[in-house]
Amino acid sequence: MARINPSILAADFVNMERDLARIATADLVHVDVMDNHFVPNLTFGPQMVERIQAVSAIPLDVHLMIDDPDRWAPGYAELGAYSVTFHAEAAADPVALARRLRSIGARAGIALKPGTDVQPYLDLLTEFDQVLVMTVEPGFGGQSFMPETMPKLRRLADEARRRGSSVWLQVDGGIGESTIAQAAAAGADTFVAGSAVFGAGDPANAIAGLRAAAAAAHVH
Ligand code: DX5
Ligand code: ZN
Repeated sequence: MARINPSILAADFVNMERDLARIATADLVHVDVMDNHFVPNLTFGPQMVERIQAVSAIPLDVHLMIDDPDRWAPGYAELGAYSVTFHAEAAADPVALARRLRSIGARAGIALKPGTDVQPYLDLLTEFDQVLVMTVEPGFGGQSFMPETMPKLRRLADEARRRGSSVWLQVDGGIGESTIAQAAAAGADTFVAGSAVFGAGDPANAIAGLRAAAAAAHVH
């Protein structure tokens, strides 16, 4: 089953409640937290995420693009986020942090930038509920999908299958109706889409289109 998680980075920040209502058919709401240090861009922090959580009908998939997630990520689990994903490149102790997130009751995710090798994490798959393979350089919406990240995804999918792991494999960046099939065929089951959903006239229709395109790719 393909999960479609619209990224509210592409929503209207002053009409967030209205835009959340437009994606009621999504699986999770993808929430991009950026700190202007780990990435050059800046979005919002825990106060905003707490309000989004309070008004959203669907659970939150928080993607932390921040330095020192060891210190800050648990707060997002504590405010009730369903899933909290931090970057491998930023965490001092990814396994300890994932265990902490799980102990608070969130799903724990680890994200890899396009240039980050997956090898060191293959033996640690049981520690995570989700691995996020970035398909663009993190920081901005509306960038082009990087097909060169697909071998990494395939490697993770093979390894997860071999180990009987139920880890979710998420892709984020440049996902739209023309790219989602490649990612699905390479083993992704969870798809983040910002501009492809909120840039469409009818976000619900865009979600349905992405779902159908991902499902079609899995069949072949
Ligand atoms: C980028 C963010 C993405 C972004 C994706 O750093 O992590 O979640 O919103 O936007 P699109 O789908 O427009 O590439
Ligand atoms: Zn993201």
